[in-house]
Amino acid sequence: MVAITRANQFTRTRRTRRTEALRGLVRETRLDPAQFIAPLFVTHGANVRTEISSMPGQYQLSLDQLAREAAELRAVGVRAVLLFGLPAAKDPRGSEGYDEQGIVQQAIRELKRVDPDLVVIADICLCEYTDHGHCGLLTPTGEVDNDPSLDLLARMAQSMVDAGADIVAPSDMMDGRVAAIRERLDEAGHVATPIMAYSAKYASAFYGPFREAAGSAPQFGDRRGYQMDPPNVREAIREVEADIEEGADIVMVKPALAYLDVIRAVRDRTDLPLCAYNVSGEYAMVKAAAANGWLDERRIVLETLTSIRRAGADMIITYHAKAAARWLREDVR
Ligand code: PBG
Repeated sequence: MVAITRANQFTRTRRTRRTEALRGLVRETRLDPAQFIAPLFVTHGANVRTEISSMPGQYQLSLDQLAREAAELRAVGVRAVLLFGLPAAKDPRGSEGYDEQGIVQQAIRELKRVDPDLVVIADICLCEYTDHGHCGLLTPTGEVDNDPSLDLLARMAQSMVDAGADIVAPSDMMDGRVAAIRERLDEAGHVATPIMAYSAKYASAFYGPFREAAGSAPQFGDRRGYQMDPPNVREAIREVEADIEEGADIVMVKPALAYLDVIRAVRDRTDLPLCAYNVSGEYAMVKAAAANGWLDERRIVLETLTSIRRAGADMIITYHAKAAARWLREDVR
């Protein structure tokens, strides 16, 4: 250590902060649109572009509009999308989720037709498709029935990959689903398709706006019996380790901002690629404050996404993907 003499007007850190170019040299964390994943909501019909009221700038899109949105994302450097579907009809087993003609299966085929290089990720969960709105099947007394749900989730995953999905992302939080999906994909010859597991997914109030977007609110009860309890971090490590053991290729922490410590803890425990989901409620808060003129949206979004990367995430699922990618392009000096 070299002692800093009293005559020094600047500390060593301040000397390297003086200009944008100097700050650029010493910057430890960078954002790259290649690491953004944009969630998209796909719905039946034609020419549908329905704004989600609690998520300004996000829409339920029919296939034609979806392709347009994907093209806009690609134009600013975002190369991956995560698809959620609004089915034509819901039933206790969530049948449209594993129907070859399901809305997401159609969306995958359409996106891969117009842009074969786009990374299309299919969210795997029953809650958008079940009439009761839970993520798995129910027992006669209304409990979520873990093991019988696994077969349906695996069928859903296979049908998404059959349709052309590049990655499947199970978000249901049933135990054993990664192994069940891996086995099913391998049997179907899809040995090269990665699984991105929502490993540490918390029972969070930050999913509120999503449930409006995807029409997936549970009709009774809540998800605390299968999603994680927010106070726990050691348990997150156990969930991540179980998913890795079962064959996950990418692990995820969700939500992101209130769980940066969890992202860091997972980062320190595994070398697998780590994804963080900057969820609907995190987006809604920023948009609401920005609309009121209370926060500078651009600075808040870039600072937030940087903090998620700094905590240790490699990739970020974010509704800000398109806007952030645009701002990053403008920032190049
Ligand atoms: C489906 C699913 C949810 C989200 C992603 N997949 C909702 C939930 O578990 O209730 C939330 C995403 C968001 O809030 O942006 N299980």
